Amino acid sequence: MINWKSRALEVQFKLEKLANYSEVNGALFRPTLSRSHMKALDQIQSWMEEVGLVVIKDHAGNLIGRLGSKRENAPTFLMGSHIDTVSNAGIYDGNLGIIAAISAVDLFGTSSSAIPFNIDVIAFSDEEGNRFPNTLTGSQAVAGTLNPNALTVSDSEGITRAEALTGFGCDPALACSSLYLDERPLGYLEIHIEQGPVLEREDLSVGIVTAINGARRFTVKVGGNAGHAGTVPMSMRSDALAASAEMLMAIESIAKSGPGMVATVGMLEVIPGARNVIPGQVKFSLDLRGENSGSIDTAQASIFSEINNIASTRQVQIEWNQDYKISPTFCDSSLGELLGESIRESGVMPFELTSGAGHDAVAIADLCPVAMLFVRCEKGISHHPSEAVKIDDIGKALEVTHYFLEKFGQTV
Ligand code: GLV
Ligand code: MN
Ligand code: MN
Repeated sequence: MINWKSRALEVQFKLEKLANYSEVNGALFRPTLSRSHMKALDQIQSWMEEVGLVVIKDHAGNLIGRLGSKRENAPTFLMGSHIDTVSNAGIYDGNLGIIAAISAVDLFGTSSSAIPFNIDVIAFSDEEGNRFPNTLTGSQAVAGTLNPNALTVSDSEGITRAEALTGFGCDPALACSSLYLDERPLGYLEIHIEQGPVLEREDLSVGIVTAINGARRFTVKVGGNAGHAGTVPMSMRSDALAASAEMLMAIESIAKSGPGMVATVGMLEVIPGARNVIPGQVKFSLDLRGENSGSIDTAQASIFSEINNIASTRQVQIEWNQDYKISPTFCDSSLGELLGESIRESGVMPFELTSGAGHDAVAIADLCPVAMLFVRCEKGISHHPSEAVKIDDIGKALEVTHYFLEKFGQTV
């Protein structure tokens, strides 16, 4: 009889320990290719090796731990999630998918006499996009879709991704070379907290993800005229911040009127940023997401047409750049059915939902079929230190994953 609760407690203990690897004291912030990222990987490597996984680091900053099959030329199944975090993060986003996968693979390896496939557990290096303007570069490298242009972008201190990779012990010239293209993996399973309130409303500990929303990210620069706050009459100003404020309101109202659309301006930089100077320049981010590419296209077109109208009325200049674009992604229906059978076997009703958040599964879908198991989180709160998951729900995710691996093994 497997004690899921004690396994879940061990996962929780490791997640709490991992949360100490942070760039700031008293809060969790682990940007990609940082010192805390490196230390967290060292810790994960030792947990992987403790359960017999053979570990390598690739040149995009991903850590890969393999449970090897004894079969010759065995195919490979992938699991994992991301190790980087947003600033002031909770301990489960991404990290749960790595630690739970190590636990599940350990159990699977010790309870099955001959595993028919290798399982690679991957701690992906860059999912949140909290350091560089583009993101998902870890999983894109694994999928073989990483564009070399992604290596030339800079963080806020002017360090390029290529330089950060070199400082991380990677060779940027090899960052775009996937280890998996010669023989494509059989599939990928990502365990992740839901980051929304649906499973809690349904009173279910886990759910099957059917699709992941598409997302686009932009940087918008608004150029006005800086000037003296006391002397330039209101009628003669070209205030970049006042114009940006109007643009932000337009963005919000366009997103509200598009079904299933969400738009967020999460970063705003005011230059020169002084109390007594009219803002001459503003730079803001725009994150736009939706369930299908058509509705994202429509919202994007309306937003930029409205931004241009506001700019011409207010006599400011506009420059915008698209930093990142991912299409809506569909999870594999056969893997989803196996997840459904595994959930039923664990005594829970199978339930399907879509994901509003982005995940490494989006990039891995270009390499092989993907599945995602969502785990209920308290009040749907995420990207926040009060992110919380019940021990019993972690236990249920481990149990479902174990049945899934057993069932999947029978198909290989
Ligand atoms: C990542 O968590 C994202 O959806 O932005
Ligand atoms: Mn995540
Ligand atoms: Mn996240």
